[in-house]
Amino acid sequence: MNPSLEEQIRAKVREGYGAIATTEQGCCSGASCCGSNPEVARDLATKLGYDPAVLETLPEGTNLGLSCGNPQAIASLLPGETVIDLGSGAGFDVFLAAQAVGPTGKAIGVDMTAQMLSKARRNAVSFSERTGLSNVEFRLGEIEHLPVPDSCVDAVLSNCVINLSPDKPQVWREIARVLKPGGRVAISDLALLRPLPDAAKGLAEALVGCVAGASLVDEIRRDAQAAGLVDVAIGIKHEYVAVMENTGDSLYRDILAQLPSGHKLSDYIVSADISARRASSRDAQGYPAGEGPGGGDDIRLATPAPEWHQTSSCCGATETGDVADAKKCC
Ligand SMILES: C[S@@+](CC[C@H](N)C(=O)[O-])C[C@H]1O[C@@H](n2cnc3c(N)ncnc32)[C@H](O)[C@@H]1O
Repeated sequence: MNPSLEEQIRAKVREGYGAIATTEQGCCSGASCCGSNPEVARDLATKLGYDPAVLETLPEGTNLGLSCGNPQAIASLLPGETVIDLGSGAGFDVFLAAQAVGPTGKAIGVDMTAQMLSKARRNAVSFSERTGLSNVEFRLGEIEHLPVPDSCVDAVLSNCVINLSPDKPQVWREIARVLKPGGRVAISDLALLRPLPDAAKGLAEALVGCVAGASLVDEIRRDAQAAGLVDVAIGIKHEYVAVMENTGDSLYRDILAQLPSGHKLSDYIVSADISARRASSRDAQGYPAGEGPGGGDDIRLATPAPEWHQTSSCCGATETGDVADAKKCC
């Protein structure tokens, strides 16, 4: 894709989510849309498997109903870990991750939409007052160029965002770069089982509504593996699309109208739970992850990090293989 087209897509996405952040409209900005009020957003999150009691701990306006899965459910976060959430919106998964990793861990949200970032930072103030935790940080940035040094996070989360990127292979390379050796991926996103008809892809709201840019399941696997990640597993879920159909979401209704007769939305669009891992030297020695002597040094990635990231690698994790101090520089 040529750079100016990529920039046009980012501008359109930024405009869409800037409006959502300021008006609190849901994902497709339609009158009946999923996140247009807090009850609908809470109901959607519960259907996606979020614990209603845990949702109650979040500041109001954090859950905008923009999620299409539950990356926390596959992340198995541990106290003390450093986590990054790609396309963090108003902070929904960041605040949940911050509670899971606790005061000795850290949760970083990255989003390219300034209005979303401002909202997330305001939410962080009330989150801190409610929980006493100050382990959350929101950074303005693109997921294709993460504002984080090499090899410094234990887990990468993302919820319904990578489909919005005009350069998905680059996003996967960035994920592999920022993960510590042995670090893991827990991502939910919309995916396609087969290509959408052009008329459905061309619907104005379909890009911001996370549908038009969604990849085929096999493309997701290929991008993750090409970035050097291992143990790539993609679980397909039909529930999300069914919920959106049942709520009468206007975007999904319009897409359905463009499908050949007799076809259902779920024949095309699904929510995918994607897990993967960055290899470590233990893999090369034939030990299962987390076992075996020594280790910690990196299996080098196929693609070297861009210069900006190399100069910003303050902890020296990639140069020395010592990732013990990585959290300090994240
Ligand atoms: C569908 S919303 C999901 C928000 C959040 N993950 C949630 O579940 O509530 C997508 C978010 O990703 C951000 N985003 C989209 N493309 C991005 C990119 N290329 N780089 C950084 N952020 C991006 C948008 O600004 C928006 O806040």
